[in-house]
Amino acid sequence: MGKTMDQGSGPQHVAIIMDGNGRWATQRGRPRLFGHHAGAKRVREIVEACPDAGVKYLTIFAFSTENWKRTQVEVAGLMGLFRRYIFKEMQSFVKENVRVRFIGDRPGLDDKLRALMDEAEDLTSNCTGTNLTIALNYGGRDEVARATKRLARDVRDGKLDPESVDEETLPRYLDTRVLPDPDLVIRTSGEARISNFLLWQSAYAEYEFVDTLWPDFSPAEFARLVGQYGGRDRRFGGVKT
Ligand code: FPP
Repeated sequence: MGKTMDQGSGPQHVAIIMDGNGRWATQRGRPRLFGHHAGAKRVREIVEACPDAGVKYLTIFAFSTENWKRTQVEVAGLMGLFRRYIFKEMQSFVKENVRVRFIGDRPGLDDKLRALMDEAEDLTSNCTGTNLTIALNYGGRDEVARATKRLARDVRDGKLDPESVDEETLPRYLDTRVLPDPDLVIRTSGEARISNFLLWQSAYAEYEFVDTLWPDFSPAEFARLVGQYGGRDRRFGGVKT
């Protein structure tokens, strides 16, 4: 789908880097996983806040290709949390008409988790409400590398003429090929970095960096940031008309 032109209204697609779970837990003298559990509860509330905020696509960064470097305990805890979360929430997503998709490198994830991801995608494939995309084992550079590999195979197999490759070609090979580009990217916890998230897709996005730690990020703050969107001129490099 690619670039969404600004229609002068709110953002159609909001992407969130949910950061600060670990610090939130540490501040309370609890293990980091306690923060991830609290963070998972917030995900549901923000998904539920989307229709009222006019947000049709929500993409959240749950686990990056770099997150494997965390301790074995934390990685295993997060994988268990994802499995339980998907299993538990699947039916409510159907009820709430939420279409779930996953982006990221699936072969790098365990079979049980992958089966649950497939099941959630299948089960919600006819849902027409909020489009929730969960980035799991996702890295922007990794995604571009995997897309390039697929593109190169098509050239090799005679399905793609290299001379025809332009800016519209690569997005068709990205994990996000059926999604519009994000209009607004939010990162919580006071870090002003994009950490390899949706690198190609966010070329024209607005960014909001807020100090709130993810487990404290409320639907009210989400609505405020969404409402603020477009306050700055967004011209895609052109001139204001
Ligand atoms: C960043 O906080 C958060 C993560 C790496 C995991 C994100 C996961 C969740 C919000 C849990 C649930 C998500 C789903 C989809 C069920 P951090 O650990 O980097 O925090 P820190 O910077 O304070 O250490």
